[in-house]
Amino acid sequence: MDADLIIIGGGPAGYFAAETAAKEGLSVILFEENQLGGVCLNEGCIPTKSLLNSAKIFSVSKNSEKFGVSANPSFNIIEANKWKDETVIKLRKSLELLMKHNHINLIKKNAKIIGPNTVKTDEEIYKAENILLATGSSFVVPKIPGIENAITSKEVLSLQSIPSSVIIIGGGVIGIELASFFSCLNVEVTVVEMLPEIVPLMDAEMASILRRSMSSVNFLLSSKVEKIEKDTVYLVQDKKELKIKADLIIVATGRRPLIDNESFFSIGLDFSEKGVRTDERMKTNIPGLYAAGDITGRFMLAHAAYRMGQVAVNNICNKKDIMREFALPWVIYSLPEAAGVGLTEEELKKREIPYKKSVVPMRANGRFLAEHGEQPGACKILVYEKTGILAGVHMVGSYASEIISSATVMIECELRDREIKEIIFPHPTVSEIIKDSILGLK
Ligand code: NAI
Repeated sequence: MDADLIIIGGGPAGYFAAETAAKEGLSVILFEENQLGGVCLNEGCIPTKSLLNSAKIFSVSKNSEKFGVSANPSFNIIEANKWKDETVIKLRKSLELLMKHNHINLIKKNAKIIGPNTVKTDEEIYKAENILLATGSSFVVPKIPGIENAITSKEVLSLQSIPSSVIIIGGGVIGIELASFFSCLNVEVTVVEMLPEIVPLMDAEMASILRRSMSSVNFLLSSKVEKIEKDTVYLVQDKKELKIKADLIIVATGRRPLIDNESFFSIGLDFSEKGVRTDERMKTNIPGLYAAGDITGRFMLAHAAYRMGQVAVNNICNKKDIMREFALPWVIYSLPEAAGVGLTEEELKKREIPYKKSVVPMRANGRFLAEHGEQPGACKILVYEKTGILAGVHMVGSYASEIISSATVMIECELRDREIKEIIFPHPTVSEIIKDSILGLK
């Protein structure tokens, strides 16, 4: 055997699994054909958050007079890109050092699985007791005639100038973050979403609050794109044909697992185009073969990938661990931010689970009002009626991305409403909105 564990893919699932396994004393080979860090570090989470932050600083300083601050800001995309690229390079270097420090054998080559315990590069064959597939996902490009006139969020990361108008096809997480980015920069933004509401994963009431709070964005809901011709998008909304134009068209209609049909089929792996099937220990149907991250098609979120990689390694090391899904938070880094964890009201209704709910507007919170005034935003709390255990927390508003961690701990620990009422939250913080919402339960 060449190693105890071979990992294919150096994104969040792969590199975190490699680090965890090395710390457990396993010898690890990590194959990554591109840059270490995967989509998250190189073209997703990190660079987009850097650009969004630049755009938010611009937007806040532009609208700062009411706070007693006068500024005449300008936005320089070249400088913003420089800051973003420097951040990515710094993080990538520390990741490379982390791999080195943990004696992980990083091989910068494409590797294919060719049998149980066996992978192959162009030149060599490697064997290990266990293999972890962590090859991630790629963009879904819908079969719309003329789609080649649109770019993806990856190309947005290297824009050299800011367009005066954009059309974004897809009102999911990426679509909404991009809509925020461009609208902060005074760009005319239209989002075309085929469903009746944006961000399908969100609690619908909160998605509607988020949409209404992005008042400068034009949302075309229940709208199906028929074709694209150069700068023009042809769509149908409620049987009405529309034609809209913009300087830039972006497609953000989801991602799909990167399936290697040929090699997966040849080894008898249980998979479909939706992903590689695993049990809750991240084991596939082949002994010694695990999968983690976007390749499983379960939750395409970097933090879910970290956890899946950790679960796989713990099971390889004979430590009992399963992937629990009921306390998996998500965040949209829009302006305002949105975040959630646990069940939505729609899910509770669908499962016919009796619940109690409370919705408190953000402006009821002291710190929020002091910093943001009457800006829209709210916190929604859902608890199981029978037990009082927290079932879901959903937020729109500043700091939601940070506050959601405390709600995640509460859901993971299955806290009840009466226990949360006894927790002391620092004052004044926006996080107090959680306690206020719990106190507001009827
Ligand atoms: P998504 O699945 O979140 O949203 C895609 C949206 O496009 C859906 O609302 C869908 O109804 C709509 N759509 C699909 N086809 C369409 C069409 N032909 N015309 C109009 N609308 C159409 O996918 P998205 O936003 O591309 O994100 C990809 C993945 O990356 C997601 O799983 C997301 O969770 C993850 N991600 C997470 C981030 C975060 O955690 N902050 C940031 C960015 C991405």
